[in-house]
Amino acid sequence: MSPKTAPAPKSSADAVAALRAKHVMALPGPMYAKPINIVEGKMQFLYDDAGREYLDGFAGVATVSIGHSHPHFVAKLKAQIDKLQHNPPLYLHPSVGNFARRLATMAKLANPDMEVCFFTNSGSEANETAAFIAKTYTGRHEFVAVQRSYHGRTLLTTALTGQQNWRNQAPFPSGVSFTPTDYAYRFDGTPEQSTKAAIRGLEQTLKTSSSGGKVAAFIAETIMGVGGSITPGKEYFGAAADLVHKYGGLFICDEVQAGVGRTGEHYFGIQHWGPSPTSSSWPRAWPTATRSAP
Ligand SMILES: Cc1ncc(COP(=O)(O)O)c(C=O)c1O
Repeated sequence: MSPKTAPAPKSSADAVAALRAKHVMALPGPMYAKPINIVEGKMQFLYDDAGREYLDGFAGVATVSIGHSHPHFVAKLKAQIDKLQHNPPLYLHPSVGNFARRLATMAKLANPDMEVCFFTNSGSEANETAAFIAKTYTGRHEFVAVQRSYHGRTLLTTALTGQQNWRNQAPFPSGVSFTPTDYAYRFDGTPEQSTKAAIRGLEQTLKTSSSGGKVAAFIAETIMGVGGSITPGKEYFGAAADLVHKYGGLFICDEVQAGVGRTGEHYFGIQHWGPSPTSSSWPRAWPTATRSAP
C-alpha cells in the first residue's frame, strides 16, 4: 500500500512557495522576494494566478524556443502521446532517424562533416557526452576549458566550468586546466591585444598545465552566457582551434547559449568565426550532442 499524500494546499503563491521550499532543493530557488506564480502560457505570454499577463523575454531560461503551448506543437504532442508514449532505442521508430538527419543537416553549417547525433535531456549531458566521446576517440583524459565558462551541472561539466560560484568543494574529476578568457572589455589594452594574450595563454596552458599538451579536447562557449555575454575577438576561435589541433586535441563547441539562431545572423555561434568544431553541444531546446564522423 502506498503512503497517503497530504492534500495539496490551496495554490496561492505563498502556499506554492512554502510547499516547494519544503520538498524541493533550492538549486536554484525562485527569483524575487515575492516570486511570481505562473499558471499558464500562450505563445510569447505568461499568466500568473491573478490573471496578469507577462511578455516572456526570458523563455524559461532560454529553453522555450517555440513559445508557450504553440497550437501546432500541442496538437502534434497530443497526437503522439495518444499513439505511443515511449520507445527505447532498442526498437526502431520511423521518426528517430529522420529527426537526426534533419539535425545533421543543420549541424553541417558548423562543420560539413557532422553526421551523427546523440540525443540527451540537457545541455549538461550534451557536454558530458561530448567530453566522454573526446576521451574515447583520442585515448587522452585531459581538457582545457576557459576561465568564466559555464558548461553544466554534472560532475564533469562542473569541473569544466570556470566560475567559482558554480563550483563547490567537492573533489572534481582531475585533468581540467583553465585558459584565460578573451575579454576585451576587462583587458588592459586593445581588443586585438586581448585576443593575442588569450591565445598566448592557451598555448601556455597547453604546454605547462596539461601533460605536454596531450589534451582530449578544448571546450568553449562561442559567446559566454552565464559568464556575462562575453564575445571573443574575430581571430580567437580560428587561432584557438588551430592550436588545439596542433596538439592533437578536439574542439568541443558549447552552443547551449549561442546556438539555434540566438545570435540572429547565424544558426550557430561558431559561424561568426568560421572554424569547424569536432563536436557541438546544442541547447536544451535541441538537447543533443552532435559529432563529426571520426
Ligand atoms: C553554455 C551552457 N552550457 C551548458 C549549460 C547546461 O545546460 P542544462 O542546464 O540544460 O544542463 C548551460 C545552461 O545554462 C549553458 O548556458
